[in-house]
Amino acid sequence: MIDRLRTDAATVVAGLGDVANLDGLAELEREAFGKTGFLSRAKKEIGSLPPEDRKDAGRAINEIRAEVEAAFDARRSVLKDAALLVRFEAERLDLTEVLNGDAAVGHAHIVTQAWEELEDVFVGMGFRIAEGPEIETDWYNFDALNIPPGHPARDGFDTLYVNHGEPGHTVLRTHTSPVQIRTMLAQEPPIYIVAPGRVFRRDTADATHMPVFHQLEGLVVDRNISLADLAGTIEAFTEAYFGPGFSSRLRPNHFPFTEPSAEFDIQRPDGSWLELGGCGVVHPNVLRAGGIDPEEYSGFAFGFGIDRLALMKFGVDDLRELFTNDVRFLSQF
Ligand code: PHE
Repeated sequence: MIDRLRTDAATVVAGLGDVANLDGLAELEREAFGKTGFLSRAKKEIGSLPPEDRKDAGRAINEIRAEVEAAFDARRSVLKDAALLVRFEAERLDLTEVLNGDAAVGHAHIVTQAWEELEDVFVGMGFRIAEGPEIETDWYNFDALNIPPGHPARDGFDTLYVNHGEPGHTVLRTHTSPVQIRTMLAQEPPIYIVAPGRVFRRDTADATHMPVFHQLEGLVVDRNISLADLAGTIEAFTEAYFGPGFSSRLRPNHFPFTEPSAEFDIQRPDGSWLELGGCGVVHPNVLRAGGIDPEEYSGFAFGFGIDRLALMKFGVDDLRELFTNDVRFLSQF
């Protein structure tokens, strides 16, 4: 009986080599150790042995069971490693991998593409690129832009404050307009700049809002600049960026830093309108804050969101997509 048990065990162990995966192993294990398996059969046969042989037979069964179990464990660990390797291979992301041929080599994010294209258009129109810090003092973000402390417009901005210095005085800039002030303080007119950059507001992310987004600010300060120059610039930009068939219009609005102020919209060739941003003639108080004499110079300013332009241009309908960093989304563009 013990000899047969050994032969059966050897057969089971030999069969382990043919098992290709963990499911197959589990099935073989059920067969070997189950009610109809060779071990159960051997146990039943003990009863028919002469009493003096039963003890040895019992010990042999236990030994053989332990050997077979060890063989299953060894095979299980090999199969587990192999399964893990297969998974690693499938999920492999080799950031140093050099792709051959014409495989994808990556490209700028669509917000960056829109940002750079806007820069090109404005540079082509004679503007320079300016920039300013993302963390601002409330003076640059508000006071110098004719929004003194307590002005209701401050509440309208959903400002994120930075815990630095005097409470409430350091902010994540809520718009790119503080770059107007920084530019005026840094250089004499004539000023023709655009300032693209990241801005922040205490907003909950949804299809049309993000707490972080991008704006492009424009500022012109020179002698005899009027609302007509603003309208002409917006119209020239619209054609240059969107192409023929697109036009623009100004609608009266209010901003503390411009007077008069307007909202500007773009009309698509199909006649529909897209609200793009705000603009206006620079308020004398803003020129003064920038160290410029409003008797001698005048100017206009405008500001609009870059992300919305990118959405429209690439036919994306949810702003959050821009920030997911999912390569399957990004590689479409
Ligand atoms: N800063 C304004 C905003 O974020 C836009 C704007 C810029 C309006 C310049 C007028 C002039 O809404």
